[in-house]
Amino acid sequence: MKKIIATLSLIILSGIALKAQNQTPFLWGVASAAYQVEGNYQADGKGESKWDFLTNKVGVTQFIIGKKETGNVAINMYDRTQYLKDIQLMKELGVNSYRFSLDWSRIIPDGVGAVNEKALAHYDLLIDDLKVAGIEPVVTLYHFDYPFALVQKEGWGNPEMINWYKNYAKIALERYGKKVKHFITFNEPYIEFFVAEYLMNMEQSKEPAVTRFARGMMKVHREMVASAEVIKMYHEMNLGGKIGMTFNFSPCSPLDPNNPNDVKASALQEKLLNTVFLDGYFKGTYPKEVLDMFTKYDPAFLPTAADMKILAANKPDFLGVNFYAPALVKYDAAEPFEMKWMDVNTDKVKSANGPVRPEELYKFLVKIKKEYNNPQIMITENGASFKNNEDTVISGKVNDVLRADYIKRHIEAVVKAKKEGVRMIGYFAWSGWDNFEWVFGYTSRFGLIHVNFDTQERIPKQSYFEYQKLIKEYKN
Ligand code: BGC
Repeated sequence: MKKIIATLSLIILSGIALKAQNQTPFLWGVASAAYQVEGNYQADGKGESKWDFLTNKVGVTQFIIGKKETGNVAINMYDRTQYLKDIQLMKELGVNSYRFSLDWSRIIPDGVGAVNEKALAHYDLLIDDLKVAGIEPVVTLYHFDYPFALVQKEGWGNPEMINWYKNYAKIALERYGKKVKHFITFNEPYIEFFVAEYLMNMEQSKEPAVTRFARGMMKVHREMVASAEVIKMYHEMNLGGKIGMTFNFSPCSPLDPNNPNDVKASALQEKLLNTVFLDGYFKGTYPKEVLDMFTKYDPAFLPTAADMKILAANKPDFLGVNFYAPALVKYDAAEPFEMKWMDVNTDKVKSANGPVRPEELYKFLVKIKKEYNNPQIMITENGASFKNNEDTVISGKVNDVLRADYIKRHIEAVVKAKKEGVRMIGYFAWSGWDNFEWVFGYTSRFGLIHVNFDTQERIPKQSYFEYQKLIKEYKN
């Protein structure tokens, strides 16, 4: 008997050792999204997408930057000749992974019907090319964009969208699930519905801003449910990889801590920006205050008990965190819910997404560890754009000192959290390359690699070399 127990423990122990050996190393990477980089917007039978429509027909960038810009060409990364050069640049940078998104409108051009084999084959080859270069693909299934045919059916305003998304996700997971070890179901629902749609005034209704805002939450909720259902599907497929969802997080603090109105506004904003997603994702609940508020402003806001059960029952393997800046919150009677956090930045050095505060990232990671039972966390995006001309090419070089410093200090924050037991599994800089920045078109650069948008020439910036150094330093 003793002998059997000893043999059994040996088998178990060597299994554990093997498992530890096989564990994926920490992922150091750069991130992108299909619409922002691929271009070639009609190649290989791609269908029209929501963003093709918004940029070409609505001309959304005009409202913000005063000129019409599109992702029709973007930075040409659908083109294999181009992306092979970009893979080479990633190799030289020293990253071991690349986060990119699949374009649903390439794979199923009308959203629900025939599958486009050419598009599937394209991503197959991209994944293989990356693996040959020693770069692990991290695949986002959905990054803001989807087939226009489904926009015409109200997109996430239609409950059926959950099934359409599941159908698409199943095709992608079946095709790439054996080769790809990390999937992300959705990117930043908050930005997709509250900010982008709200800014673009897509609803075109005369309803009060709070109602339009609240309506966004039902769409966010549908994405949360769709994500949980796809997580379930993926786990049932037993492919041995990991799946999670990515949110944008901005830890909140009052602009003026001595002003009770700011303090109150900030506490509510914290729930709206962060807690609602963390609780929904990990616990299958939403804060009561937030639920009551959304129900009040949008009577159609109705997460059912069945929805919440799906959320609670299907646990993700990791949390995707996009962190750019914390939110400084100010009471403002004229704003929806009487508070404002965007463009509230009193710092001298202004990054486009808010104040540069890496210590807030560290604190936030530790908070998640404590309050949500120490989940695995992947920083799926972190980066900055500055309006100080630091992206100008001077004598063939781009000296982006602020971005280099931003990346360094945020990586140090991640490393510190990791040392203190937060289960960090990866860090992805946004972005590898300057690219199409949604409503800001080509006027806002986030890349570690400078792109000349006319010639497609690439020039690694100082931040690229800084990141290269940091990866070497922290690799082991
Ligand atoms: C998005 C990216 C975007 C970046 C910089 C995130 O909201 O996921 O697509 O380019 O922030 O603004």
